[in-house]
Amino acid sequence: MPYSHIQFETKDGVAVLTINRPEKLNALNDAVIQELSEAVTEIETDDEIRGVLVTGAGPKAFVAGADIGELATQGPLSGKARSLAGQEVFRRLERCGKPVVAAVNGFALGGGCELAMACHLRLASEKAKFGQPEVKLGIGPGYGGTVRLPRLVGKGRALELLLTGDMIDAEEAYRVGLVNRVVPADDLMPEAEKLLRRILGNGPVAVRLCLEAVDSGLDLSVDESSLLEANHFGLIASTADMREGMSAFLEKRTADFQGR
Ligand code: COA
Repeated sequence: MPYSHIQFETKDGVAVLTINRPEKLNALNDAVIQELSEAVTEIETDDEIRGVLVTGAGPKAFVAGADIGELATQGPLSGKARSLAGQEVFRRLERCGKPVVAAVNGFALGGGCELAMACHLRLASEKAKFGQPEVKLGIGPGYGGTVRLPRLVGKGRALELLLTGDMIDAEEAYRVGLVNRVVPADDLMPEAEKLLRRILGNGPVAVRLCLEAVDSGLDLSVDESSLLEANHFGLIASTADMREGMSAFLEKRTADFQGR
């Protein structure tokens, strides 16, 4: 599908989704959110896509937030609608069932930090900067910042970032658990792809069920999430991939998983 505000290309099972408005530091306007929604539908439905890398175009920004020019004109109803639309797209990305790695190449502010947090893993260039500066504009986060940030870094650190609007650098983001790893800027995309392809070498059904168990399980009681895990454990025993994984170990060879 042709896109104007994002780039979306798939090679050898990996889709690279690039937010592409570098002249506005890749700020998320409604048109970008609409194209993101269409790309997420492709991710959900195209079996050729096995994993996703998300990044921003240009040297400066991953995404510098929602488009402030558009936010400036919104009213209560249109503001709520914009928030719900963005939340829905990010949630569908988070629940697409395929591993999604954010390669954070620069500013990840507001909606950019929120997009990165909706990805399953985050690699940051040493030049990346993170923050939820909405309060400085007199608004709050609208695309999941108050939801995912405390889950990733804990309530106290999340509130410090949310209430001050301060930016933190990549090392600090790593220290508080907001990113999985910090790498030199030139290594960001190769390292992110290497990490994703390592995951794609594992059993696809197993990976999918891990994503689902953690996503759903975090909101369940210990007993409920344990039952979900046990159900997955039983379900996966019916797959050819489980037999292949076990045989490959016992035969001292690399497993050839088929995703069934
Ligand atoms: N929405 C709309 N436009 C944005 C934007 C956003 N969130 N972030 C940056 N831009 C635009 C700027 O307006 C500027 O456009 P112009 O050249 O037409 O004037 C262009 O991107 C470059 O940004 P600029 O501010 O000149 O770059 P900088 O290097 O001086 O500063 C930032 C970089 C990220 C610190 C600064 O752009 C900024 O604070 N952006 C807003 C961050 C924010 O509050 N995000 C949350 C929104 S809810």
